Amino acid sequence: MDQHLGMNRTGIDMSPVHSKQMLQVDAEIPQTTDGSSTRAGIENYFLENADPLGSVPLPGTVKGAAKSALKMTTGHHPEVFINKLGERLAYERSGVRVYQQLIAKCTHAADSLTPDLPLPIERLEEFCRQEEEHFDLLTQCLKKLGADPTAQTPDADASGVAASGMMKVITDPRTSVSQCLQAMLAIELADNAAWELLIKLAEDMGMKDMAEQFQHALQQEDIHLREVRDWYEKKCARPGENLAAELSMFC
Ligand SMILES: [Fe+2]
Repeated sequence: MDQHLGMNRTGIDMSPVHSKQMLQVDAEIPQTTDGSSTRAGIENYFLENADPLGSVPLPGTVKGAAKSALKMTTGHHPEVFINKLGERLAYERSGVRVYQQLIAKCTHAADSLTPDLPLPIERLEEFCRQEEEHFDLLTQCLKKLGADPTAQTPDADASGVAASGMMKVITDPRTSVSQCLQAMLAIELADNAAWELLIKLAEDMGMKDMAEQFQHALQQEDIHLREVRDWYEKKCARPGENLAAELSMFC
């Protein structure tokens, strides 16, 4: 069960004496360590001197560059397209892994945590396969452009870090199915928006075939999002009844 009353001692109300002491100490802590640098000054230094988050890789070989379908594109910013293709590829690969984790958790939860509302495992498996198909599609697209699909692009790096929190929620054995579904919902929302952008970029690049394939992927992602949202709402609605019952015991 996700929501039960217990000895949760994380709140400030659990220790009025210590919380009062903490607030007093907080007021006495100096804002600087040596009196010369403010926190904002240190942050500004790193913001002004940081290197960019990697670079977009060029086609790996001269032959690859010569054969590259990029030469036939009409867009002016192929590096943006490759950056975003690399981002999507990494995200879809992660998508396979999170669905595999969710399937494992739901298989376990089906006869223990949530016997009243098991998720359709076969549906999760279908979504997992589709994420893998999207990964394969993006791999082929990058190869077609003469780019290396194993290279991590800057936006792949950034979106991987952004999604790492969701991954942690889903892979943590202590989290419930509904907590995982909340993370899945965030993943699928971001996924949908990113596919929409990728379609626009493909059209801008004059890559009509790719745009059509991406449109098909987006249709599948739309279904993922709709069903994950539906499961999440149902999961959240059921335990609420239990929580209300538990709360009534304290009133
Ligand atoms: Fe998806």
